[in-house]
Amino acid sequence: MELKPLELSNRRGVITGAGQGIGRALALEFGRRGGHLLLVGRRLDTLTETARLVAAEGGTAQVLVADLTLDGAVERIAQALATWETVDLLVNNAGNVRAGRLELSSDADVRSMIDLNLTAPILLTKALIPALRRGATERRSIILNVSSGIAMVAIPFYAVYAATKSGLSQFGEALRRESIGTGVHVATVYPGATDTAMMTSQNAGDELGWGRRPLEEVITELMVALAAGVYEINTATESRRVMQQLNITDPLAVDDALAPSLEALELAVRDHRSI
Ligand SMILES: NC(=O)c1ccc[n+]([C@@H]2O[C@H](COP(=O)([O-])OP(=O)(O)OC[C@H]3O[C@@H](n4cnc5c(N)ncnc54)[C@H](OP(=O)(O)O)[C@@H]3O)[C@@H](O)[C@H]2O)c1
Repeated sequence: MELKPLELSNRRGVITGAGQGIGRALALEFGRRGGHLLLVGRRLDTLTETARLVAAEGGTAQVLVADLTLDGAVERIAQALATWETVDLLVNNAGNVRAGRLELSSDADVRSMIDLNLTAPILLTKALIPALRRGATERRSIILNVSSGIAMVAIPFYAVYAATKSGLSQFGEALRRESIGTGVHVATVYPGATDTAMMTSQNAGDELGWGRRPLEEVITELMVALAAGVYEINTATESRRVMQQLNITDPLAVDDALAPSLEALELAVRDHRSI
């Protein structure tokens, strides 16, 4: 079936985790296209700065300080949108990571990743689906879920993060099919390693297959693909794409490729934490 292009201008809706990194960059992109955005995150100062930058790009933004893992956050977001005439955008971007050998992971970190990366976007989407359906005209409403390349090739020492991100991808795939005929377009982006604050405590580089891409490059590619109607947006590096392909045809060959560098990888990622 052919992809149907999406109009990205004048979008009205929510971006979670909009205070920095991928979320802020997406806010600026939608702002530049005349968007009106509700920016959600825990820190007022970074959200306010994003709102200022969105305004400088020609858009408008409100901020809502909320920890998405806490009871009541989703209701507060829905309430903030209740007076909006149109809601036609939801970007589930907020996410966190803690790497390391599973048995060394604290239960609190395991729960934190599941709560933020999986439960929160599911509950927020559930709450906003009726508004997104109403907001769809001849222009479809957009749900964009920010997953990860790790959902395509599960990398050792990221077992919990991989579980949450592949869960989010499957959620999106099911919802895309559930949304046929409703005017809601569900897309999933799979960023590879991207240069943001989330990656500052991670020390794996090119030699371990973790070459990072600049944020601007990734976001430009993402917006072009989204506008073209692509619903599975992969921004991985070329070498990672080769591994993704191999993981489909011969997953044990990926095990063999990773085995010699397991120790080095564990060492390089053991401090990786954004919780
Ligand atoms: N960077 C990468 O290499 C990469 C690769 C693949 C996928 N991703 C995914 O892309 C998304 C964005 O990543 P990023 O690199 O931009 O990360 P980031 O720089 O760490 O930004 C995460 C954002 O989420 C917000 N956030 C964190 N915990 C929250 C909570 N409990 N409630 C509400 N907001 C919360 C943070 O703001 P506050 O601290 O103010 O709440 C922040 O704005 C994540 O889902 C991540 O898993 C990133």
